[in-house]
Amino acid sequence: MGSVGFEASPTDDARTLLRLRVTVADADEGRLVADLLSADDGGAASALATAFFEIEPGGGWIVDGYFDSGTTEAMDLLMRLAGGLPVGAGVTLESVPEENWVAISQAALPPVEAGRFLVHGAHDRLQVGRRRHAIEIEAGEAFGTAHHATTQGCLEALDRLGRKRPPRRVLDLGCGSGVLAIAASRLWPRARVAASDIDPIAVDVTRSNARLNRAGPRIRAIAAAGLDHAALRNLGPFDLVVANILAGPLIMLAPRLARAIPRGGRVVLSGLLGEQAREVTGAYRMAGFRLERRQIRHNWATLVLVRG
Ligand SMILES: C[S@@+](CC[C@H](N)C(=O)[O-])C[C@H]1O[C@@H](n2cnc3c(N)ncnc32)[C@H](O)[C@@H]1O
Repeated sequence: MGSVGFEASPTDDARTLLRLRVTVADADEGRLVADLLSADDGGAASALATAFFEIEPGGGWIVDGYFDSGTTEAMDLLMRLAGGLPVGAGVTLESVPEENWVAISQAALPPVEAGRFLVHGAHDRLQVGRRRHAIEIEAGEAFGTAHHATTQGCLEALDRLGRKRPPRRVLDLGCGSGVLAIAASRLWPRARVAASDIDPIAVDVTRSNARLNRAGPRIRAIAAAGLDHAALRNLGPFDLVVANILAGPLIMLAPRLARAIPRGGRVVLSGLLGEQAREVTGAYRMAGFRLERRQIRHNWATLVLVRG
């Protein structure tokens, strides 16, 4: 069980929020905790808002849940969390001024440049202006603000592919916020872009981010596990698939992706650690792909493979 500490006692001040901050070792643990903080399980406590970010590459992750002060929700959740926290997790509960909370969470998420793309939140909209490759993504319930090395690796790979012959059908598998589908629609305005996720909330978030980025009509978002959906079969075959999910599911998907991608088509894979790159590459070689490029960023690998 993780260590639990209190930085300050809650107050009844109407202008303060309670912040429950959980520090964990990696993104998987962070996602688990974020799910617990935002769980809507019929009356149980859940945070008003959550924030989820990497402290520094390889330096652990922070998950923040914000609660109304003067309520017991933060304490209820803390009690629920206590038994299920990853070993080594740290927990603090403190009151933070509401005005500062917005500033702090925004400061934690500055714009990110990856290739020609600039991914930013609403708070930087005016500063960024209408740059062709600017993408607005608000940190929310789906992964993909581009602050993670895997999203950056995929954006850079897409940017590089943007200089080659344009794909006609693109799939963003595991779309999260939809950032990669939106990037693809920016690079290739004439392409039909599908975006899928096993999590229906991510699919809703992708749809609203696509509209926000004026790409709504060009992106079809579908809730599906892997390629298991009739709509995905109808929208394919895909001459480009980008999938930022974990090594295990990527390996399992290799034969299915080989059937969904014609010869000469490409797959961009991320969500795997540097030391997993060889195993994932091996699975895709067996399925008929050739490695075109491998890039490592903060020990996260991004692979580009061509179907032979
Ligand atoms: C690391 S996030 C990537 C989000 C976004 N594409 C990005 O690059 O920032 C992985 C996403 O894949 C989804 N996912 C995981 N396994 C999946 C599967 N087998 N089929 C479809 N989606 C999956 C998760 O729900 C999550 O939204």
